[in-house]
Amino acid sequence: MTRSFPPACQAFLSDLNRSLSLSPDHIQHMIRDFHLDMEKGLRGRDSSLNMLPSFVDRPEGDERGRFLALDLGGSHLRVLEVALHGKGKAEALALKTFVIPKREMQETGARLFDFIAACIDRFLSDCLIDRGKIHDLAFAFSFPFHQTGIASGKLLGWTKGFTATGVEGRDVVFLLNEALRRKQISCLRVAALTNDTVGALMAASYSDSTCDMGVILGTGTNACYREKQINIYKLKGRRPKEHMIVNMEWGGFDKARRTSYDMRVDELSVNPGAMYFEKMVSGMYLGEITRLILLDAIRRGLVFQDYPNGPDRLHEKHALKAEDMSLIEQDETAGLDKAGAFLNHRGICSTLFDRFFLRRVCQLVSERSIRLSAGAISAVISWMDPDLAHMHTVAVNGGLFEKYAGYEMRLTKAVSEHCCGQADRIRLVYSRDGSGIGAAITAAVAASINTAEPPSFSP
Ligand code: BGC
Repeated sequence: MTRSFPPACQAFLSDLNRSLSLSPDHIQHMIRDFHLDMEKGLRGRDSSLNMLPSFVDRPEGDERGRFLALDLGGSHLRVLEVALHGKGKAEALALKTFVIPKREMQETGARLFDFIAACIDRFLSDCLIDRGKIHDLAFAFSFPFHQTGIASGKLLGWTKGFTATGVEGRDVVFLLNEALRRKQISCLRVAALTNDTVGALMAASYSDSTCDMGVILGTGTNACYREKQINIYKLKGRRPKEHMIVNMEWGGFDKARRTSYDMRVDELSVNPGAMYFEKMVSGMYLGEITRLILLDAIRRGLVFQDYPNGPDRLHEKHALKAEDMSLIEQDETAGLDKAGAFLNHRGICSTLFDRFFLRRVCQLVSERSIRLSAGAISAVISWMDPDLAHMHTVAVNGGLFEKYAGYEMRLTKAVSEHCCGQADRIRLVYSRDGSGIGAAITAAVAASINTAEPPSFSP
């Protein structure tokens, strides 16, 4: 379709394509840089990859029990009741999802944790949970934290638009317990704290022993994988034969080539100077990148010519979201009517040409996200198994992977391109409710090995 664009527009799109596309050479470079930063992170040296030990390994599949689980993600909070039946069978018996309001994300930590406690209270009442008994609660916390015990960890820094004060550097389980006490909820005992990537891996590996990597592609992005303890040099008391899941915090990777739009997205974010990779890949930022590209094209007089300064709406931060881009990319109508209706709804008049241009930008931005994710997945698999001698199942969770038009299929294809004819050795599977169910499995694993405190490590 780009062939029908006038020359100035075509030139803009070609430049954009050049700066967003990733050649096989770029990817090979990125994989090498990933490996260097993984190594540094595991040694406890300065690295853009935190490589945080989780102190658990994947489950056997025979863990059993009933747990409540709390999943604090990017934009939603979920409370679940999970039953582990053994033989790899787990199910969510009840589930409630709550939208986290902006004030809760951005004012005080007490306000955020009071909101969480109120949601738990609602869940307990609506789902008729017996308050006369003590229930184990597993907490999936989708932010970087330094694990100090199986059920304790200090937040290293907020991401994904959260800025609630008084939480960074503090034990989030302690803050949760305080809020539960304020709400007079005394029937819960926090039994495990996990990152959502670890939850995804735990949930999928409960029934599949080839699963050794968890990836989140949603509001934020991150991955964890199974590492030999002997390679986690910063861990004291390393054991030669054993494995541990490492939360990489790959959203912090800082060696992928960035464009001026990425730099602007970073400047406009609430955490400038951090999480560069996340800001190029994840759902929270794809709309922002597209919005800034569009405003640039408008400023150059290439599109939306009725609005010399751009439609007011497009000047608002996060006016365009990943789900809007997905809708625009999926629009197969000859006149791109769905895209037109979407713009109209926001008070923006468009020509057919504007809409084709917008769709092309969405395609380029999402394609880069997919290529970067595929490169990062390949980096981790080739770190674990350079000759691809084994089967690797990657548990993936998150709205981008689940809902963005064609993302899953395009990602699977992009990963297979890096496998030199052994594409059948890597399988991406969607891990539904993985974070919450996986957190419950972590609590069950912890109970079975009875590790109250993990070994220490030097950060
Ligand atoms: C957080 C990670 C989390 C990821 C996906 C990132 O912003 O730093 O801890 O796993 O989002 O939710």
